[in-house]
Amino acid sequence: MQVYLNGEFIPAEQAVVPVNDRGFLFADGVYEVARVYDGRVFKMPEHLRRLADGLAAIRIELPDIEGLTGIAEHLLDENRLRSGGATVYIQVTRGVAPRKHAFPQGVEPTVFLAVNPYAEPPLEYWTDGVAAIRYPDIRWARCDIKSVSLLANVLANEAAHAAGGFEALFVRDGVVIEGSHSNFAAVYDGTVVTYPLCNFILPGITRASVLGLARDLGIPVREGPVYDHELFGAAELFLLGTTTEVMPIVRVDGRAIGNGRPGPVTQRLIEAYRELARG
Ligand code: PDD
Repeated sequence: MQVYLNGEFIPAEQAVVPVNDRGFLFADGVYEVARVYDGRVFKMPEHLRRLADGLAAIRIELPDIEGLTGIAEHLLDENRLRSGGATVYIQVTRGVAPRKHAFPQGVEPTVFLAVNPYAEPPLEYWTDGVAAIRYPDIRWARCDIKSVSLLANVLANEAAHAAGGFEALFVRDGVVIEGSHSNFAAVYDGTVVTYPLCNFILPGITRASVLGLARDLGIPVREGPVYDHELFGAAELFLLGTTTEVMPIVRVDGRAIGNGRPGPVTQRLIEAYRELARG
């Protein structure tokens, strides 16, 4: 596979980053994952806008963010990924400098892009739903920044997998706020309830798209808390994300949600999102 690293298109095996890269030493960087459907990058402007917001938040200057689109397109051609499913991965770190916490001066950011074929999860994940666990939110208080510091997310997701599930749902102060790699929503009395955008969750591109679709379909939406103690009273639960799309959760910590099957609101949103993304 050809990848892009700091101005060059090179084979992945030759793409190496110095050990003093601040991404390696401090997780001092941000990333994006965009989805490619039959060669078309889905919502690239939205991903680049969020990348720009993240870079501004951690004060990394990257002049040509728009130029990343052309790089991604070139990689899709070079790697013959114009049919089927793929992902675009973008990572920007503060760059390479001897290990000191404060920002180094006069350092160029490290810019890395890769495209990869995307092996979709089995269709049953959408038709039958998946299992999740609850997990204490041990992350920092700027989860709105898509930081490469993902250790808490990794530990949470590993715990979900070890329990035979797909996703871990972070619980902060008694509220289920989002997943380890997805946003989260519940359905109560036909209304979609999802945590409001703030510093504790990632402003998901899928979340924004699906809330728009729900409004178009006349499905009421409320941005508010889903309390842990009310979780099992929900009629439906689902995940939202670039790789997960809209995915029904039918069990949490071994207990069924609703009748243990994907519910009608989730199914309508799965359909609408597939139509939007895949046309
Ligand atoms: N994860 N919340 C978290 C913590 C995430 O990591 C993600 C995405 C989302 C959903 O955001 P979006 O709809 O923009 O993909 C929510 C990506 C896919 C990942 O880390 O692989």
